[in-house]
Amino acid sequence: MRPYIFCHMSITLDGKIIGPSSQAPESKPAGKVFYDLAFGKNAFYQHEGWLSGRTTTDDNFTHYQKPVLDEDAPQVPDGDFVAEASPTMDKYYISIDPSGKLGWQSKTFNYQDTTGEVIEVLTEKASNAYKAFLRKLNISYVIAGKDKLDSELVLKKMADLFQMKTIMLGGGGVLNWSFIQQGLCDELSLVMKPVADGSPDTPSLFQSKEGLSDNTPVSFTLTDIQVKDKENGIAWLRYLVNN
Ligand SMILES: NC(=O)c1ccc[n+]([C@@H]2O[C@H](COP(=O)([O-])OP(=O)(O)OC[C@H]3O[C@@H](n4cnc5c(N)ncnc54)[C@H](OP(=O)(O)O)[C@@H]3O)[C@@H](O)[C@H]2O)c1
Repeated sequence: MRPYIFCHMSITLDGKIIGPSSQAPESKPAGKVFYDLAFGKNAFYQHEGWLSGRTTTDDNFTHYQKPVLDEDAPQVPDGDFVAEASPTMDKYYISIDPSGKLGWQSKTFNYQDTTGEVIEVLTEKASNAYKAFLRKLNISYVIAGKDKLDSELVLKKMADLFQMKTIMLGGGGVLNWSFIQQGLCDELSLVMKPVADGSPDTPSLFQSKEGLSDNTPVSFTLTDIQVKDKENGIAWLRYLVNN
């Protein structure tokens, strides 16, 4: 059985996940509600790891730095590499990086007061030099798919190799939609702030991408609505995905 997957995101009234609205005063309290629900001391969601797309990782953690590659590195053994986890880690950070582009500096990083331990998810497109780079940093990696990501295999490997039972699907919109369309998400959790930007260009909660997903609709069943911060107008909406 695959792990339970919930998609947890902070959004504007027009479904944006980043952009000019992040400067609005409501964004800070919304960010706190978002963090507390999934990462706080008494978090509602208890998960062993969170999934992120390559763009989200570059925007937030690796900042488009290039990996330092040794093109003459000796051939690494075939298959996955499971490193011993750092003693300080709180949760795994499952980084969807099919071609092996991300310039990690170390195997852990801090997200507020959470220490994330990186697991890179690659396909067979990733080079020997990139895998050698990850091994040098003692960063775990799994191979899921030949030249296209096999998302079901990703989840199976997270359960089998890292004992994960619950995983947060954490954006961006491209990754979210590709998992939801494949029936690989059980629940949707939205922290909604009363802001909008109206722009057709800012990334939204779900975005199809050619080759990864299409525009076939998916429906959801509302299970709960709560006002989490009345003064700042922050609501929390929960849905089941109608798979
Ligand atoms: N408000 C929030 O709660 C929140 C949460 C997370 C992120 N964000 C924001 O969202 C923005 C980026 O979102 P985004 O939707 O443009 O990008 P994204 O989903 O973070 O990353 C997209 C990339 O990830 C890889 N990828 C994702 N799904 C894949 C699949 N099924 N198969 C193969 N590869 C896959 C591909 O990498 P390659 O291009 O390397 O092939 C793809 O181009 C960021 O600015 C981030 O800060 C906001």
